[in-house]
Amino acid sequence: MHAVDIIRKKRDGGILTAEEIQYMIEGATAGSIPDYQIAAFCMAVYFQGMTSNETTALTLAMAQSGKTLDLSAIPGVKVDKHSTGGVADTTTLVVAPLVASLGVPVAKMSGRGLGHTGGTIDKLESIPGFRVDLESEEFIRQVTNLGISIIGQTAQLAPADGLIYALRDVTATVESIPLIASSIMSKKLAAGADAFVLDVKTGKGAFMKTLDDAVELAKTMVSIGAKSNRTTTALVTDMNQPLGMAVGNALEVREAILTLQNQGPKRLTAICIALAAEMILLAGVADTQEEAREQVEKQLQSGAGLRMLEKLIAAQGGDSKVVHDPTLLPQAKFTFAVKAPADGYIHGVDPMQIGVSAMRLGAGRETKDSPINLAVGIVLEREIGNPVKQGDTLAVVHADREEHISEAERSILAAFEIRPDKPEIPPLIYKRITSDDV
Ligand code: URA
Ligand code: CA
Repeated sequence: MHAVDIIRKKRDGGILTAEEIQYMIEGATAGSIPDYQIAAFCMAVYFQGMTSNETTALTLAMAQSGKTLDLSAIPGVKVDKHSTGGVADTTTLVVAPLVASLGVPVAKMSGRGLGHTGGTIDKLESIPGFRVDLESEEFIRQVTNLGISIIGQTAQLAPADGLIYALRDVTATVESIPLIASSIMSKKLAAGADAFVLDVKTGKGAFMKTLDDAVELAKTMVSIGAKSNRTTTALVTDMNQPLGMAVGNALEVREAILTLQNQGPKRLTAICIALAAEMILLAGVADTQEEAREQVEKQLQSGAGLRMLEKLIAAQGGDSKVVHDPTLLPQAKFTFAVKAPADGYIHGVDPMQIGVSAMRLGAGRETKDSPINLAVGIVLEREIGNPVKQGDTLAVVHADREEHISEAERSILAAFEIRPDKPEIPPLIYKRITSDDV
């Protein structure tokens, strides 16, 4: 086989065999196929697309390009959850302990933040002492004994994805549904769970700007799951405004704690309940969607999810007192209230702009290796649909450097759209796609 023939075949709209796809991925991983051919291959896929069978073959080849985790020693159905990424998306820190408190084992590998989106691992590191780098034996032991562990995703997991993603990033080939679906699902498959719940974001702050594209991505991933014998459910959810109210690592941990005390923001709480319910449904702990919701809501009201978060923090060396006293989390030096310039209603809170402002304050990374500040960020006080009077607080900036405040204020004001008329409020969950739909 020759890489150039495979590239030409895809360029001309041909359908590749699993062997041809595997040849490309093995060559990329081994370094025997150079970057320029892999990049050309990605561009051919970008323009010609892939069939469902090709996308599944690509996913499996990438999943098998490195280590895979064997979770079979842990009793029960292991359900993993993944979000395609958003702003103020603190769901994992809420959903994972809720689900674990219902006896569903959670063996979760998470990533770090990049660009305008945050990452669970950075958020957890804002808890003093919390270790995200457990060895796989320790990880599996903790899930077996406690029912939950969350650790950083290692580079050994689906290494082909790491290589290919870096090339896609600089060759304008990120925005391709088969490439995104295989990138996400290869890492999920390698991490070893039996079933998946996917939160596919759509809107201004998401990869998928349109509902149609988000639904297609969701269906593609659910179908990859089904073809790999992993039952998968996807929810297509709104990212036209930040999901929760807090953006920034320690600030989001505080918001997760509030949410587990059943005092969190409405939309974040609703998505957490929906995702947790889908997870326990796939785990077989509940028989119907209604029953699953009721069980999850009970754990929120009783504080059982919060107690599980406390145990998770203690087990991984963190200061578990933070769940009762969030002031133990890192605090920024300065806070500054951004005020509404006029009366009216909130029509928009641009998630991309809010995410980028938080990144500029130091909460996120501009490039893969930039350092981050765990204390800083933005806490929103208004969302789409709220009425405001001139001078009301729209958001509070948490900064460690005084000179960052005015730029943050400017971009937060630009993110908020205030108009005199009442706005339409976007739906929160657009669509549910299960293995039966694909
Ligand atoms: N997230 C991923 O992991 N991969 C993509 O290609 C896009 C988003
Ligand atoms: Ca089917």
